[in-house]
Amino acid sequence: MIATPEVVEKLKHAPDVAGVHDLILRRWSPRAFSEKPVSDTELKTLFEAARWAASSSNEQPWRFLVGKKGDAAWRKIFNALVEFNQNWAKSAPVLILSVAKKTFTAKGEANGWNLHDTGAATASLALQATAIGLHAHSMAGFDKEQARASFAIPTDYDLAAVTAVGYFGDPESLPDYMRKMEVAPRQRKPLEEIVFTDWEKPAEF
Ligand SMILES: Cc1cc2nc3c(=O)[nH]c(=O)nc-3n(C[C@H](O)[C@H](O)[C@H](O)COP(=O)(O)O)c2cc1C
Repeated sequence: MIATPEVVEKLKHAPDVAGVHDLILRRWSPRAFSEKPVSDTELKTLFEAARWAASSSNEQPWRFLVGKKGDAAWRKIFNALVEFNQNWAKSAPVLILSVAKKTFTAKGEANGWNLHDTGAATASLALQATAIGLHAHSMAGFDKEQARASFAIPTDYDLAAVTAVGYFGDPESLPDYMRKMEVAPRQRKPLEEIVFTDWEKPAEF
């Protein structure tokens, strides 16, 4: 079977679960990105969605460094990626580095939820991307210290993740080993393994 973008989008759609919004079922993390650029208007909506996420004490610890292919920020983020990620993220028109402030600004106390909240903001960003026909793919595989140094990020910020954003491209453009991942159905643990009423006692619905 030829893996056309349309076939892969269908294959990656999570199985229909009654009552779950289609936007959630449609979100997935591709590695093949199209050359079609992401407009500034589209990009702005992603960060608007991110900034309306909930956060502990409404601290909003997230900060985003955004690079568009061809500019210095994109190159700095790209250079920090591990080789595996560079091999596919080279086609992403947008790369975003998310960082999370470690302390509450008002009192200077440690914020133990900074990465939690920055992840929540990134999830909102990914859903907004899905809603407007884009895709987002986050990455842990990057050199945090290299990224910190290249943007002079202060030590009061944790480095969270890099997220590639763009339109889905041609899965056939990927190297063999990656194309296999691109066309594999998405897997999830069943609810019994993750929702409990006591430790490891599955909740009943
Ligand atoms: C924090 C985080 C780090 C990730 N790191 C990488 C990575 O370094 N390289 C990669 O190819 N995918 C990475 N992924 C993508 C995951 O592998 C992917 O989200 C997971 O397999 C579920 O697939 P789905 O997003 O298509 O549902 C990461 C995802 C998250 C949320």
